[in-house]
Amino acid sequence: MTLRVATIGSGLIARMAHVPGYQKAGAEVVATVDIVEARAKKLAEDFHIESAYTNYHDMLARSDIDAVSICVPNHLHKEITIAALKAGKHVLCEKPMATTVDEAKAMLDASKESDKILMIGFNNRFRSDVQRLKKFIDRGQLGDIYYAKAGYVRRRGTPFGWFTVKQESGGGPVIDIGVHAIDLTRYLMGNPRPVTVMASTYKKFGHYDLMDTTAWCSSDVIDGLRTGEEFDVEDLAAALIRFDNGATMTVDVSWAANLEKRDNLYASLYGDKAGAQLSPDLTIFGEQDGMLTDSKVNTVNKNTHEEEIKHFLSCIEKGETLISTPQHGLEIQQILNAIYDSARTGKSVDLPLLQ
Ligand SMILES: NC(=O)c1ccc[n+]([C@@H]2O[C@H](COP(=O)([O-])OP(=O)(O)OC[C@H]3O[C@@H](n4cnc5c(N)ncnc54)[C@H](O)[C@@H]3O)[C@@H](O)[C@H]2O)c1
Repeated sequence: MTLRVATIGSGLIARMAHVPGYQKAGAEVVATVDIVEARAKKLAEDFHIESAYTNYHDMLARSDIDAVSICVPNHLHKEITIAALKAGKHVLCEKPMATTVDEAKAMLDASKESDKILMIGFNNRFRSDVQRLKKFIDRGQLGDIYYAKAGYVRRRGTPFGWFTVKQESGGGPVIDIGVHAIDLTRYLMGNPRPVTVMASTYKKFGHYDLMDTTAWCSSDVIDGLRTGEEFDVEDLAAALIRFDNGATMTVDVSWAANLEKRDNLYASLYGDKAGAQLSPDLTIFGEQDGMLTDSKVNTVNKNTHEEEIKHFLSCIEKGETLISTPQHGLEIQQILNAIYDSARTGKSVDLPLLQ
């Protein structure tokens, strides 16, 4: 049976990742939705999709659509995900799950009430090096992982548009790219439950115009519908996260900072048997025959969005076990929002068990 899918939001991530990902995986993309009609129509035309809508409720009312991707700004994830689940669709919701913990909890509750899948789009879990390292860790090769350093830092790489407006995005680089570093590192650690967060955030650059920088940008800025100059979020954050198993993670994130690397997503894990790092190459730091060893592991890069979509379809069609669950999304959301709360109050934040 060919699964029939739609994207809600026809902006950059729908065009670059979701629609081509579904088509490559053999699903039929039958509808696109966007409040900007021309954008939904252009996406439909470019990818030979039969219908384009401006109101997602009209598309969700169709009984011949099995699954949807939520590709809209973050503050709309909750409302549209819940509506899609209630309409009986499987949902792949882009990261971050939401802008607040309450929103993420409401999404988790809706998924429990539905018999459909809600997957959160943590595509970096599907990197080949991450999957290879995960297998290595699951075989116990690192031993007890008690410390990790995670980061996603850019020298200048601010995605202007709704991304820099707190009401629409929920925050700056913490919620936009920090979410990837924190999630993939915690995933490698076995998803321990976060219990305490201490953090600082800074806004030192805001909007800027600089030659030779390229970054992701919202479709409204690309199309000239807004200037991209509004900016009320952070552009750097540092955090310390403690987990219920006693392990600790430190995190570094920036959209703009005066550092060497232009764009670097990294994770280093310290186990009592061996350590590992993902950047610049997957390397295992161990011991053999009384000597210290550094083992570089070769992997072939795969398109993480294509891998994520293949997994989503396979969970629907073949009952494969979902690896990126709404419970994981909620726990990551608790960390993201605790970073903002701790930075605002100057105090560490304790996280309750939510499920
Ligand atoms: N996984 C990744 O690496 C990755 C990368 C980029 C973006 N994203 C996520 O994807 C989502 C979308 O980001 P983007 O870069 O495509 O943004 P974008 O601004 O290019 O596209 C968002 C689209 O949603 C549309 N939209 C707004 N309200 C709508 C509504 N009510 N109904 C239908 N459409 C509506 C907008 O008109 C716009 O076309 C965000 O959550 C973002 O965090 C993820």
